[in-house]
Amino acid sequence: MKKHRTDTPMFVCTGCGFESLKWLGKCPGCGEWNTFTEFRRPGVKSGAPGRAVTRFTGEVQRISDLPATEQARRIITGMGEFDRIMGGGIVPGSVVLLGGEPGIGKSTLMLQIADLVARTTTPAGTPCTVLYVSGEESVHQIKLRADRLDVRCGRLLVVSETSIERVAGMVETVAPDVMVLDSIQTLYSENIPASQGSIAQIRGVTAEIITFAKTRNIMVFILGHVTKDGDIAGPKLLEHMVDTVLYFESETVQNYRILRVNKNRFGPTSEIGVFEMTGAGLREVPNPSAVFVEYHKNLVGTVTTCVMEGSRPLLTQVQALVAHTYFPQPRRVVTGLDYNRATLLISVLEKYTGAALSSEDVYLSVVSGLKTRETAPDLAVTLAVYTAHRGIAVDHTSLYFGEIGLTGELRAVGFVAERIAEAVKLGYHRVYLPRANEKHAAQAGVAGCETVFVDSIKDIDKLAQA
Ligand code: TYD
Ligand code: MG
Repeated sequence: MKKHRTDTPMFVCTGCGFESLKWLGKCPGCGEWNTFTEFRRPGVKSGAPGRAVTRFTGEVQRISDLPATEQARRIITGMGEFDRIMGGGIVPGSVVLLGGEPGIGKSTLMLQIADLVARTTTPAGTPCTVLYVSGEESVHQIKLRADRLDVRCGRLLVVSETSIERVAGMVETVAPDVMVLDSIQTLYSENIPASQGSIAQIRGVTAEIITFAKTRNIMVFILGHVTKDGDIAGPKLLEHMVDTVLYFESETVQNYRILRVNKNRFGPTSEIGVFEMTGAGLREVPNPSAVFVEYHKNLVGTVTTCVMEGSRPLLTQVQALVAHTYFPQPRRVVTGLDYNRATLLISVLEKYTGAALSSEDVYLSVVSGLKTRETAPDLAVTLAVYTAHRGIAVDHTSLYFGEIGLTGELRAVGFVAERIAEAVKLGYHRVYLPRANEKHAAQAGVAGCETVFVDSIKDIDKLAQA
């Protein structure tokens, strides 16, 4: 990286933080006009030699000498879904980014978590103090929300503040164990010559937060609004700075919310937690499969399957509609599944079962609004399209999963035991799965459920008529 001397003025774009040695009218970074301001870098000694070596006064430790009490050193919130996806509680001193679209329920979730944490103790056994900093709402508005959520622990402190310097000062006096910053877009630093919510501000403020979290061993939740494109304030520039990245998503028109782990330095990733937004805040959904499979009737083109979300099996339904097309080229509309995979399966179906779909529109969707990239729903997708085409109602007490190859053969999938166990738990009587998974199913040894092994989709008529 180039070192700039303090006596040379720098010009920084207030919109995106682009740095230049000359003043520019139009920013090459973000394309905005007239956004450059002069900036002198604090703290860099003028004329310092580029390759100076600083005397090292710290201590280097042997990794084997460090205490290994990782699990014991977590704060357990008591909200099961949340603790589970965090890898068994929150790690003191870590920085967690919670992203989500405005209005999804980030502030609600954090206020509930903050209250739960304030009621517990730190790993050292002292009561937890939580500081909730809101740059979006007044203390009065937070109170209104808190009343709805029945949040009233005395060790939960709230403040409405937007200056990171004043927040740092507050940390000195309050000495919280856990802190919530709602939201990163509303916080600003006086030392950064850029407008509030700009990339330069967000990057700088986050760096400051991480510094004080690590030096004072404070656990920090940073809330961030995600734009429609899925970015947190433009580029996903915070993800690499923090320890854990959580995304809060809404999966359906209903009030279900999914908390997804994108990155976790202290636990598993690709885990999800399911919550329901109620009149009194967010409630954990202990058995999401029951939620995602809504209709308990035999329906045409509706097939129940099981997808894995991290280590968790989730039952869901795949639905297809096949209708005569009015276009020269038939439409393929796919939601929740990979588009290319779906078109491939439609072609395999045409080739090996003789289903004529070249003048039919095919609409495919995962009913619950769940998104999956797995190949295990292949069998369900194919069966949904086939039965929709033929007008056959599918047995709703059966579960179908398996990957389909290019010659229509069924291929083995992973997590067979987990999928079958989930089906049994929810009262399914029969599971259709690839013959190649026979030994896995035998090892799983789940009683109370018939397993039917399928070799190829050439037998699809038998499956459909079951
Ligand atoms: P909020 O937490 O303010 O969203 P974010 O911080 O992500 O912008 O959630 C706001 C939405 O949640 C709003 O539409 C109202 C709804 N809500 C409830 O349904 N029940 C509740 O108890 C609360 C507090 C909010
Ligand atoms: Mg909010």
